[in-house]
Amino acid sequence: MKKLFLASSLALIACMLATVSFADKCTSCHEKKNPGLFLQWKNSAHGENGIGCIDCHEADPADVDAFKHNGSTIATLVTPKDCAKCHEQEEKETSASYHAHAGEILASADAYLAHAAGGEPVAITGCEVCHGGKIKIDPDSPNKLSPKSWPNSGIGRLNPDGSKGSCNACHSRHSFSAAQARQPENCGKCHLGPDHPQKEIYEESKHGIAYYANINKMALDNDEWVVGRDYYEAPTCATCHMSATADQPITHDVGNRISWPLRPPVSKNKDNWEAKRQNMQDVCLNCHQSRFVEGHYYQYDALVRLYNEKFAKPAGEIIKLVKEENLLESAASFSNTIEWEYWELWHHEGRRARMGAAMMGPDYTWWHGIYDVAHNFYFKLIPEARHYNNAKVNAYIDNLLTNDPMHNWMSTNTGEIKKGIKSGDFQKIYEKLFSN
Ligand code: HEC
Ligand code: HEC
Ligand code: HEC
Ligand code: HEC
Ligand code: HEC
Ligand code: HEC
Ligand code: HEC
Ligand code: HEC
Repeated sequence: MKKLFLASSLALIACMLATVSFADKCTSCHEKKNPGLFLQWKNSAHGENGIGCIDCHEADPADVDAFKHNGSTIATLVTPKDCAKCHEQEEKETSASYHAHAGEILASADAYLAHAAGGEPVAITGCEVCHGGKIKIDPDSPNKLSPKSWPNSGIGRLNPDGSKGSCNACHSRHSFSAAQARQPENCGKCHLGPDHPQKEIYEESKHGIAYYANINKMALDNDEWVVGRDYYEAPTCATCHMSATADQPITHDVGNRISWPLRPPVSKNKDNWEAKRQNMQDVCLNCHQSRFVEGHYYQYDALVRLYNEKFAKPAGEIIKLVKEENLLESAASFSNTIEWEYWELWHHEGRRARMGAAMMGPDYTWWHGIYDVAHNFYFKLIPEARHYNNAKVNAYIDNLLTNDPMHNWMSTNTGEIKKGIKSGDFQKIYEKLFSN
């Protein structure tokens, strides 16, 4: 707020006066028609700084979603491109982020599954409410928007003006508050559930515990929100992934501080991962010392490698062999039991384990994570692969269970009974996971 009044050029004041009179033009009706909406706007940073309805909703008559409305040409849709008129930097970072690509999932295996096993309504009211759908124009609709595609505030919404995303995915209209976006609940609309339980992991972590015990000391309403200065009791999702430190500005690119992607079947370090890891560690160092933080990453990296090497790669190899040998009973994706088992192994259980270790949620690392991965691997995926009775597949599995020191604690189907692993051997077997 103060920023705007500091810029006291005459041109800006003239512009603001014009804005205020335009706002009246809209609010005269909408104050009565939608008093809740009106008050959200009036008491927001925008309302208080004379940014009116028309500043965001104004449209060019040539826009595909423009319509005449009580003497003005407006659009209901307000896209990142509209916000960029005043918030260029935030828009640039948002558009460069992975979030902006979240609407490009229509060709994914997940989308096929939703359409085939579910049906179109669930793709619209499920997937697209988080990821963002493609906004479709319907010339006969009063606001030109097809009701099959709007309302939608998904994080990677595909807008008719070519922009991607919707800023109100995190800054709910019409308050557009930074304070709300800083809370974990904000990210938790999408980052939860069986395949990416970041919200639940956060809540069970020491960080979540400290946050909920100290919400009133978190200074969420501050104009500036720098960890270690404006607040210090706990980090939120925003603290670690987006917000400023004494040495680092706010970023709207949530990938800026991530070194492993934890989503894919097998995790591989990202480009430029060392720099991104340093950005994250700069946040931690406000509350922890360096050996503590390095120790956390040492343990976390080993868990990611454990998942990769012990389960993800062999499971991927088994599926590959089953496909190469043409063993699937049905050619249609997701119509064979083994496909669902493999899917859940990496897409649900394997992600949970990796995310639990990244964000200090031990219950997700083991009980909802590697425990489920191991149970699925040994007692669902392998028996299902064996039921095809294929020589190549069986030979691969037998070799794994006989000769891989991580797996040969277990009896194989070859009749050999094993007695487990000697406790003195644990360290030797897993040592290699603790180094690059
Ligand atoms: C004369 C009264 C009046 C004025 C002036 C007015 N509106 Fe509206 N507006 C309405 C009414 C009534 C509706 C709801 C129509 C409905 O529910 O079908 C509406 C609906 C809207 C919608 C939603 C349209 C949709 O179907 O998605 C937007 C956006 C909007 N107004 C913005 C504005 C803006 C911006 C201005 C100022 C340029 C403005 N309005 C001025 C009465 C007005
Ligand atoms: C800071 C930008 C901004 C300002 C200022 C603003 N709006 Fe909006 N408005 C939005 C966004 C974003 C949406 C969500 C539309 C979308 O899905 O893209 C929206 C949606 C709407 C809708 C339709 C959605 C609903 O919940 O019914 C109406 C009506 C509306 N605005 C009216 C107004 C009026 C009236 C004002 C002034 C009092 C106003 N807006 C001020 C950004 C703004
Ligand atoms: C016409 C210029 C203008 C447009 C368009 C505009 N804003 Fe703003 N916005 C401002 C001004 C001015 C402020 C208050 C000064 C500041 O904090 O920089 C502000 C503040 C904010 C804040 C900080 C609020 C807080 O709690 O501190 C957020 C978040 C925000 N805008 C989001 C948006 C989004 C999202 C859009 C598009 C839907 C948008 N703005 C469109 C001018 C604009
Ligand atoms: C509750 C919100 C939510 C719903 C519903 C949802 N997703 Fe997601 N999806 C996410 C989040 C959040 C991620 C990112 C997880 C991460 O990075 O840890 C994600 C990741 C993905 C990815 C991985 C992207 C990549 O590049 O690796 C795909 C593909 C995907 N979702 C497709 C879908 C489809 C299709 C549906 C509907 C069947 C769906 N999602 C339902 C929130 C959701
Ligand atoms: C993933 C959630 C998320 C999305 C999407 C998002 N923001 Fe933000 N935004 C935040 C958070 C969190 C903050 C608070 C950062 C802080 O102060 O610590 C913030 C702060 C802001 C601020 C005020 C602080 C500043 O100086 O940067 C503005 C302005 C803003 N956002 C605009 C936008 C615009 C415009 C878009 C869309 C192009 C957008 N945001 C999309 C989460 C989001
Ligand atoms: C409206 C849904 C939604 C909200 C709200 C949301 N996200 Fe996301 N987020 C997603 C989806 C979907 C993806 C996966 C993108 C894809 O599939 O391409 C994702 C991906 C991410 C990633 C991975 C980025 C990368 O480059 O690998 C991070 C980190 C992230 N989100 C953090 C956050 C934080 C922090 C917040 C809150 C401040 C937040 N998100 C709010 C839906 C959301
Ligand atoms: C204490 C800091 C911290 C907090 C708090 C935190 N995270 Fe994370 N997050 C991390 C770290 C560290 C990683 C792993 C980074 C890496 O691999 O380099 C991570 C990874 C992620 C990823 C990447 C997953 C992928 O698919 O690649 C997402 C998404 C994410 N966090 C979202 C969230 C959300 C949402 C919240 C709040 C509910 C949250 N984080 C809270 C530190 C944090
Ligand atoms: C705003 C302060 C703050 C920030 C920033 C922060 N932490 Fe913490 N962290 C805490 C507090 C408080 C605890 C609880 C200390 C205790 O157990 O006595 C904690 C605990 C931990 C623990 C111990 C978990 C357990 O269950 O014993 C680890 C590991 C950790 N943090 C790692 C990190 C990493 C890595 C980052 C950066 C990605 C980070 N922290 C950022 C405040 C912070």
